[in-house]
Amino acid sequence: MGLGSTLKAVKISDLVYWVGAIDWNIRDFHGYVTGRGSTYNAYLIVGEQVTLVDTVKAGFHREMLSRVSSIVDPREIKYLVSNHSEMDHTGSLVEVMELIDPDEVYASKTGVKTLNTQFDIDREIKALSSGDELELGGVKLSFLETRMLHWPDSMVTYLPEEKLLFSQDGFGMHLAGGERFADEIPYSILEEEAARYYANILLPYSNLVSKLIANIAELGIEINTLCPDHGPVWRKDIDKIIGLWRKWALQKPQDKAVVLYDSMWGSTALMSKAVAEGLDAEGIAVKVMPVRSSHRSEVALEILDAGAFLVGSPTLNNNIFPSVADVLTYLKGLKPKNLIGASFGSYGWSGESVKHLNEILDGMKVEIIDEGVSVNYVPGEEDLVRCYELGVKCGKQLKEITNAGK
Ligand code: FEO
Repeated sequence: MGLGSTLKAVKISDLVYWVGAIDWNIRDFHGYVTGRGSTYNAYLIVGEQVTLVDTVKAGFHREMLSRVSSIVDPREIKYLVSNHSEMDHTGSLVEVMELIDPDEVYASKTGVKTLNTQFDIDREIKALSSGDELELGGVKLSFLETRMLHWPDSMVTYLPEEKLLFSQDGFGMHLAGGERFADEIPYSILEEEAARYYANILLPYSNLVSKLIANIAELGIEINTLCPDHGPVWRKDIDKIIGLWRKWALQKPQDKAVVLYDSMWGSTALMSKAVAEGLDAEGIAVKVMPVRSSHRSEVALEILDAGAFLVGSPTLNNNIFPSVADVLTYLKGLKPKNLIGASFGSYGWSGESVKHLNEILDGMKVEIIDEGVSVNYVPGEEDLVRCYELGVKCGKQLKEITNAGK
């Protein structure tokens, strides 16, 4: 049922083995650019009997079962716990259940409904609620539902004997690699990929992230080992990754601005340069992101710690450029908070782009600090000075906000 004997499990603790799959190839995870690939982590708890925590994406289960086979015959798995119903963890669930035929399969209450809606499952999946405890194969496990982090079914599983938390998507990142532990990977890479993951997956649920981190502390859940479903396992410095999530959940603005734009004949591009210079003159770190060379998920990453968001678009057929609308639609769904912003753009005759951009920014709850700069055809010196001054004004206001927050 596997892919041969060369694929091995990796020992995580006395009781737990990593038996996941490495996806070196993936570069697009439902629209989010995953430049370093990903892993779909599954874990084997080997007590008196064997429990599998989570499965893997469709097409990767033979890799997972090969890794299981390096420890036990997969048919010895008695219990299967599904912490999260999204396809990257359950795409192979039905096939795996058929192959290993476990005695029991568990998910959260919503997870049971979701799994039965997504798949044609002809057996009972038992529902778990927060606070439930089970003795599976001589190993005690407890469960905590983490609804909307980031799906309604999401749940984490705790192994108190080893102070080990199976955190599903929580504290994960898309990062393929031979290293199984975070302490084997440069911290700069961990921080960048964790931020990219948080910005693109968790940002809309930041209030719940803050509550979960507080809840873990209130419940006295000590974590010595953190086992997410993507990326490396944390056996050291767990406070670092939790601290990063705590910080990102607050979305405290920094002296940083993102300038997003597209241009038809180069006029809005010229304006973006002047806006960026004005921000720079105020000491604001500026990230200029031309839409055609900046994937929407990279814009989300840069917005994560920014305090200002300025958007430029020419007017096309009484509207904004579709390429700019694409990124703004994506960002609106991610609900970034605590941003100030403004708009700019060139036009030929009707000139609605700045009005539309302001409406979109307002809908995103960005505090608009200026009516924006609209320029007919090609910007002249005075127009560029107006753009520069827009950048200066935005930079000054951002510094006032960040200074007040210090
Ligand atoms: Fe990794 Fe929400 O799935």
